[in-house]
Amino acid sequence: MLGMSLRFRLLVALLIISSLFLAACQPTVGVGRAVARLEPTLPAPRDPSVVPVRPSAIEGRRIFARAQCVQCHGPEGLGDGPIAGALTSPGKSIMTDFFRLLGIQLRGERLPSRPANFHNPVAMRLNSPFSMYETVTRGRPHTAMPAFPAEGGKPGYGATLFGPRGSEVRLTDEERWHVIFHEWTYASTREEVARGKRMYETRAIDIDGRALTCASCHGTRGDGRGPVGVELSKKIWGWARGQGSGVFTDINLMSQRKPTEVYQRIVDGSANMPSYRGKLTDDELWALVNYIYTFIYDYPW
Ligand code: HEC
Ligand code: HEC
Repeated sequence: MLGMSLRFRLLVALLIISSLFLAACQPTVGVGRAVARLEPTLPAPRDPSVVPVRPSAIEGRRIFARAQCVQCHGPEGLGDGPIAGALTSPGKSIMTDFFRLLGIQLRGERLPSRPANFHNPVAMRLNSPFSMYETVTRGRPHTAMPAFPAEGGKPGYGATLFGPRGSEVRLTDEERWHVIFHEWTYASTREEVARGKRMYETRAIDIDGRALTCASCHGTRGDGRGPVGVELSKKIWGWARGQGSGVFTDINLMSQRKPTEVYQRIVDGSANMPSYRGKLTDDELWALVNYIYTFIYDYPW
């Protein structure tokens, strides 16, 4: 009896294993066809933008003052606002969180919390506009950086900031995009961006026997519609729809790129993008990087 059921169970197990094995061996269908459909034939409609407004650093500067960012980050974004020196992180630690669960409120040790300096290239080259937007929306846990959610929106991790009349300071989605692009302008100078623009439009470099500027391919407006760009858009699907890598007006992509990534892409090149390794100096590369971001927002100068 016992022997029978064991053999039976073994048989069932064998059947299951062999059917899984057979299923794994089935030829996969439709791969060839799926690839064929990605051929650049008809330009498909563009993806909708995740950013609800064209960000404006000019508008952002006003919000920076009105929403009291200046109090901590300072009038010029150096992290030296009037209350910067006195800021501490909310008194929270694993211990206070644990006792909170038991309904006991403890006061944690309050550590100094220093506001970001938006002129610091080491930090700013690792930020993307999108990561800054998220920080402003949610605040940053365990630091003095408050959350600025929309009216009716849930507060995030950060402390809540109260305005002069005792009400919480709120920002709309649009206002948060404007204000972070104002902060973005601090990461470079007006002169550097102007230099980047000049190089982008006029510095011709020999690429396979042709003297090309960045604008020859990427277009003076950054939309990939330069004379060579138009040729390229016949074979690059994204360029035909005006979106994707190398289309600098694509805010969905560019707002999520860090300057370090953009820099590296210019140095390395890719399938259709020449490598500029050894052809441009470090300063020239950063000037180009900073200029490229100005295609997605209204730059003040
Ligand atoms: C009460 C002080 C305070 C106010 C007001 C404040 N911040 Fe901050 N902010 C901070 C602190 C402190 C940090 C650094 C947090 C950390 O240690 O990571 C910070 C960090 C940031 C960062 C992240 C920067 C980076 O490099 O990662 C952004 C973006 C930012 N603040 C934007 C804003 C904006 C926009 C406003 C106004 C709408 C604002 N802050 C208002 C204190 C403040
Ligand atoms: C021959 C045409 C051509 C020239 C010249 C050219 N690019 Fe490109 N570039 C491209 C193409 C095409 C892409 C898209 C990536 C791909 O398809 O390989 C691209 C991608 C890029 C990207 C990557 C964007 C991203 O975030 O994914 C950057 C940055 C870039 N180019 C900057 C520049 C700069 C700066 C110059 C001038 C110094 C330049 N390119 C010159 C064709 C060109």
